[in-house]
Amino acid sequence: MYDDDIASVMVTEDQVREKIAEIAAKVAEDYRDSCGTGGPQTDLVLIGVLKGAVMFMTDFARALPIPTQLEFMAVSSYGSSTSSSGVVRILKDLDRDIAGRHVLVVEDIIDSGLTLSWLMNNLDARRPASLEVVTLLRKPDAVKVEVPVRYVGFDIPNEFVVGYGLDYAERYRDLPYIGTLSPTVYA
Ligand code: XMP
Ligand code: MG
Repeated sequence: MYDDDIASVMVTEDQVREKIAEIAAKVAEDYRDSCGTGGPQTDLVLIGVLKGAVMFMTDFARALPIPTQLEFMAVSSYGSSTSSSGVVRILKDLDRDIAGRHVLVVEDIIDSGLTLSWLMNNLDARRPASLEVVTLLRKPDAVKVEVPVRYVGFDIPNEFVVGYGLDYAERYRDLPYIGTLSPTVYA
């Protein structure tokens, strides 16, 4: 599928699966005493950022051996299709109040960090009991704003990647691995 469009595989399906198991074990350990011990209100709230984080969110939630509640937000960053400007608009907000809750934001990728920085300020204002971030991918060379990220899957080079939720013009989200695009796709 998409064979001619993918120039190289950056993270394989197996690597994604292994990394998720590794992060899930850490998260379960870190939240063991604070989450899931005092009824539904103590369940960890995962906030997935649509659409990119969908694959990671669903695989991650299933790999976590502690109870979680799934929430989604959709935001749009004004900018070109391959970079963001930091000006963010909420397209879909949370369904529930997160005040007093332990919250873990689930991101597909941190590039400049502008989107996440805005999102963290927005969520922090809602007074959660704790607020942390897990991201599958991060591009250290692209960072413009430092946002403390508790869990990082892979640090990758500053190249545009697709697959496993990440798109180019809404395509390639359904690939089970993460890869770079061949220049012919952009032509
Ligand atoms: P910033 O720059 O605000 O960007 O950290 C975060 C959002 O930009 C998108 N993004 C990408 N999407 N391949 C993609 O398909 C990439 O390499 C890439 N880099 C950034 C993504 O939506 C992310 O949440
Ligand atoms: Mg995108």
